[in-house]
Amino acid sequence: MNIAIDGPAGAGKSTVAQLVAQRLSLVYIDTGAMYRALAWAVLHHGVPVEDEAAVASLLRDSAISLKRTPSGQIVLWNGEDITSQIRTPKVSHHASIVASYPQVREQMLQLQRAMAAEGNVVMDGRDIGTHVLPDADVKIFLTASVEERARRRLAELQQQGLDVDLESLRQEIAERDRRDSERTVAPLRRAEDAHLVDTTGLEVHEVVERVLQICKQTGEQGS
Ligand code: DC
Repeated sequence: MNIAIDGPAGAGKSTVAQLVAQRLSLVYIDTGAMYRALAWAVLHHGVPVEDEAAVASLLRDSAISLKRTPSGQIVLWNGEDITSQIRTPKVSHHASIVASYPQVREQMLQLQRAMAAEGNVVMDGRDIGTHVLPDADVKIFLTASVEERARRRLAELQQQGLDVDLESLRQEIAERDRRDSERTVAPLRRAEDAHLVDTTGLEVHEVVERVLQICKQTGEQGS
């Protein structure tokens, strides 16, 4: 079984996808972390982010890998563990810029399909149900209001000891939604056959149960 979970920034995709993967003994693949890793490398190496060819060539000459550890998934850039450095607002901002480049998306598509080739994955992102795994057995589109997503991101960043204010997070999320939805290549869009799950006001475990129920119903319909 392959499960695709898409949705805007802060809708809870990675938390939910990880828990669903655990419950169904599937492999979790966080594709946003791959765009974040590239954005981190652009900043780290001083590559001009507006130069699509330079960004694409940095990706071509490097290796991104996702590894499972007992404490969760880690992200490696050329073997270096950069997991703790890819969730800052600056990296988020740069990630949505590099993710708008066709030359970058084409490479990511190949990498992500190769990762899912053996099946039994829960993959989360923006274009998984529409482009990366259009034949996924179950497609979920998770949403939540901008206000709720900003509040969740604030709590996450505060836990990491980062100091940010709610209004600037709200603006940053709205801006990322706009950029992710309006880009020409593989924009953030609900696949026609995706189940819409609005997580506003729901606890994580309630969302997980809802997704598991959808998976179960799909399995029953298919058998
Ligand atoms: O899910 P996230 O916030 O970690 O994603 C970081 C950025 O990467 C986000 O701006 C959208 C982009 N992204 C994408 O364009 N396609 C994906 N499959 C995953 C993420």
